[in-house]
Amino acid sequence: MNITVLGSGGWGTALALLLLENGHSVTLWSYKEEESAALREKGENSVLPGVPLPESLTLTAHMSCVEKSAVVVLATPSFAVRTTARQMKPFLKPGTVIVSVSKGVEKDTSLTLTEAIAQEVGEGYPIVALSGPSHAEEVGRKIPTVVVSASRDEKSAKLVQDLFMNERFRVYTTDDVIGVELGAALKNVIALCAGINDGLGYGDNTKAALMTRGLTEVARLGEAMGGRKETFAGLAGLGDLIVTCTSMHSRNRRCGIAIGKGTPPRQAVEEMGMVVEGYYAAANAKALANKLGVEMPITEAAYQVLYEGQDPRDAMAGLMTRERKQETEKSWV
Ligand SMILES: NC(=O)c1ccc[n+]([C@@H]2O[C@H](COP(=O)([O-])OP(=O)(O)OC[C@H]3O[C@@H](n4cnc5c(N)ncnc54)[C@H](O)[C@@H]3O)[C@@H](O)[C@H]2O)c1
Repeated sequence: MNITVLGSGGWGTALALLLLENGHSVTLWSYKEEESAALREKGENSVLPGVPLPESLTLTAHMSCVEKSAVVVLATPSFAVRTTARQMKPFLKPGTVIVSVSKGVEKDTSLTLTEAIAQEVGEGYPIVALSGPSHAEEVGRKIPTVVVSASRDEKSAKLVQDLFMNERFRVYTTDDVIGVELGAALKNVIALCAGINDGLGYGDNTKAALMTRGLTEVARLGEAMGGRKETFAGLAGLGDLIVTCTSMHSRNRRCGIAIGKGTPPRQAVEEMGMVVEGYYAAANAKALANKLGVEMPITEAAYQVLYEGQDPRDAMAGLMTRERKQETEKSWV
């Protein structure tokens, strides 16, 4: 099948190579001509060192490449998903399947990324979100990885499963698109907190607590937005949370570590040199929680540290001394 991947960062590149290995004809589009030229010249992506780009991978910076594709994979940072969708729209063939692999919630609108794409492309293009615990660095090195393909259109979810799946990349399907997208986006906020925890020198107990209670509040918001609780215990929820909170591949965690060690948040984000989705997701999640009346104390604390200059130690103390609670809502009812 003819497939275009839009966005030649680590993730777009790793997925383009996977699709190529699966026998598809793949074009990798770069946002800038210089980026495409550098890939061609070096024969590899600097964020995936030691992973060669075969000659059979077509590299371009021209959006017209989308014209011949039956499937388009959108792999830009979340802030660029809408503008990239807008740019590709004039070139889309009717019925082209669009796969969103970015993780985030749209700034200002608080829409999920598939919702933003749908607004831009209009009717007639099935949209799938592909998500789960999947570092580009490991997929690039062909390490076994398991993800989930989410769409309200069963045929398209299964098509994406078929296109991406091989013996080292396993794909499940689901119809819970909102659950999958919110799990992926909001876990980045918790990963930042896990990193701050490590930077402060707090221990495994604290990190486990942040992850567990963090997932609880992410699922609470997700359910209020129409997602299913069990999705948050799945690959795009718990799975992605574990990988992002514990791995040094996670830029959200690494950024958090720098903040925990005393770097001002804005500076830590800029110094990462790559998009830190959790920084933006914290503001979006707070806005959504306020709008829907959902309690998200860890996200609120993250917001105070990231945007309002609160000392992370004070934020942690605030979380520890909240009013006494039952762990689940259903105790002794
Ligand atoms: N890297 C991973 O391991 C991984 C895994 C799963 C999902 N994701 C998600 O995939 C998305 C992309 O991640 P990445 O690591 O490849 O990102 P990245 O930071 O490496 O950047 C991706 C690409 O986006 C391009 N870009 C920058 N500004 C742009 C704009 N205004 N318009 C269009 N393109 C622009 C850059 O040129 C770059 O090639 C993110 O949402 C991320 O959360 C990443």
